[in-house]
Amino acid sequence: MSAQTKIQWIEDELESLHESGLFNTIRTLSSPQGAWLRVDGQKVLNFCSNNYLGLANHPHLKKAAQDAIEALGVGPAAVRSIAGTMDLHLELERRMAAFKGVEAAITFQSGFNANLATIPALVDQEDVIYSDELNHASIIDGSRLSRARIIRYFHCDPQDLHRVIEENKDQGYKRALIITDGVFSMDGDVAPLDKIYEIADTYGYLLMVDDAHGEGVLGRGGRGIVDHYHLHGKVDVEVGTLSKAFGVVGGVVAGKKTVVEWLRQRGRPFLFSSAMTVPDTAACLASLDVLEKSTELVDRLWENTGYFKREMKNLGFDTGLSTTPITPIMLGEAPLAQQFSRRLFEEGVFAMAIGFPTVPRGKARIRVMISASHNQEDLDQGLERFEKVGKELGVI
Ligand SMILES: Cc1ncc(COP(=O)(O)O)c(C=O)c1O
Repeated sequence: MSAQTKIQWIEDELESLHESGLFNTIRTLSSPQGAWLRVDGQKVLNFCSNNYLGLANHPHLKKAAQDAIEALGVGPAAVRSIAGTMDLHLELERRMAAFKGVEAAITFQSGFNANLATIPALVDQEDVIYSDELNHASIIDGSRLSRARIIRYFHCDPQDLHRVIEENKDQGYKRALIITDGVFSMDGDVAPLDKIYEIADTYGYLLMVDDAHGEGVLGRGGRGIVDHYHLHGKVDVEVGTLSKAFGVVGGVVAGKKTVVEWLRQRGRPFLFSSAMTVPDTAACLASLDVLEKSTELVDRLWENTGYFKREMKNLGFDTGLSTTPITPIMLGEAPLAQQFSRRLFEEGVFAMAIGFPTVPRGKARIRVMISASHNQEDLDQGLERFEKVGKELGVI
């Protein structure tokens, strides 16, 4: 078979993505993260990034990264379990545990890796996972890697979770793990973790929450979903990311000392992929400095969120189920969402259209990510452009 023939199927798939309008054209930034970006050469208002607190280009983080490079170099040059654990990593883990009020924490190279490490370390082919039907791709992949049976329950529906557990509890599984996203990244709704905890507690099942979009956002001063629901000490595993509100890159698992120790022994991305880099680790420590010093950025994020959502609703837009800074603007069909996003971009606003398969058919939307880095003028400008394009396309 010729080299060309071997990959013909990929060309066909790409062609069909283009034809169906589902080809993902990736835009390029040539500016730092912030309220405004230079994207594909154009200055645009940024409604796309997960830079909730504006920390990605914060002077304190940049200085910490620069100083750490001077002192310790750049790369880790080893996996954590061989020669890659620096005192900086352990300091970040101690500080994260203290910030979140848990016994211990362990860091990974990303939130995605944290899930790939954690789930297969907790359950295997003799076990069962109860998973919210809208859980993130990294939970789905981590669950598949574990080889446990995966049983989905309806989105944010504790009653349905209870139902599927009752249906399956006598199937002879050795262990059971309930997993939910904390904040759902496409809808911006928050898992009913208090109710889910009650169920996990009743059955004695392990409970894991992935708080990627709640870390630095929910709870007192951004301490996350467990703090938000006052469930300290009750959730076995709290996965987080340092790549969104923390403004850097990395993942974290916070919880009981025993679980964290086990992940140091059995978390495969910890054992077989190099450690977080020096500047990333130092910058994450600097994020904690900012968060521990003041709640100012978290407060501003929520003020901005309240204002933008209120005004969008007043304009007649449907912002779905969101109760967080993730603000979906529900539009229905994918071509309309794409056209809306294109027109916004022409008007100087960068807001992503999201359609099938990321969200169900008929539920396409524009997703607006609010940040503490937006000021009043930015938000008003965004609202004005949404109103203009919304009227033009007959949405409002
Ligand atoms: C729920 C959830 N988990 C994990 C991740 C992955 O985090 P990271 O970007 O740090 O790999 C994301 C990011 O999109 C997420 O939304």
